[in-house]
Amino acid sequence: MNKILVAYVSRTGNTRKMADFISEGIRFSGHDPVLKKISEIKNEKDLEGYDGFIFGCPTYHRDMTSGMKTFLFIAERANLVGKMGGAFGSYTHSGESAQMVFDTMEFVFKMDMVDLGALNLKEAIIDTPDGLKACQEYGKAVGQKFGS
Ligand SMILES: Cc1cc2nc3c(=O)[nH]c(=O)nc-3n(C[C@H](O)[C@H](O)[C@H](O)COP(=O)(O)O)c2cc1C
Repeated sequence: MNKILVAYVSRTGNTRKMADFISEGIRFSGHDPVLKKISEIKNEKDLEGYDGFIFGCPTYHRDMTSGMKTFLFIAERANLVGKMGGAFGSYTHSGESAQMVFDTMEFVFKMDMVDLGALNLKEAIIDTPDGLKACQEYGKAVGQKFGS
């Protein structure tokens, strides 16, 4: 059983809901999700002990939140090269953040990213059966990269 950190930021709860559903998918794949707000991660030591990492950020002003940018500088110091990764976020119309986070994990941190790409969901579908399924499948896909 591998330990997968699901670290997210969420102002109004939509990305947090995605994080909950993704964690369920990780559990279904036989692995152990640990759910945290990025504000709980103070330095690179707080990123030790995990086998995989999924980071979540909604889009505000066509950008990541400033908290996520600070968090990614912490993650840079954690040396995540080769670790399993994924990224997600909610949005209403443009939805840049999830892909930005995914790209940073792939190209800067050189992580082993899930084949599905970033999971970017319009907020209106998160709380529907399709939204729940998409999130659970995403968590499962990251878990299945480890085998079960
Ligand atoms: C001031 C403001 C700016 C926003 N800017 C964008 C944006 O540029 N692009 C977009 O797709 N959604 C934008 N949104 C919508 C949020 O991404 C959306 O409500 C998202 O579900 C919020 O996630 P959260 O509940 O996890 O904070 C904006 C929302 C607010 C309140």
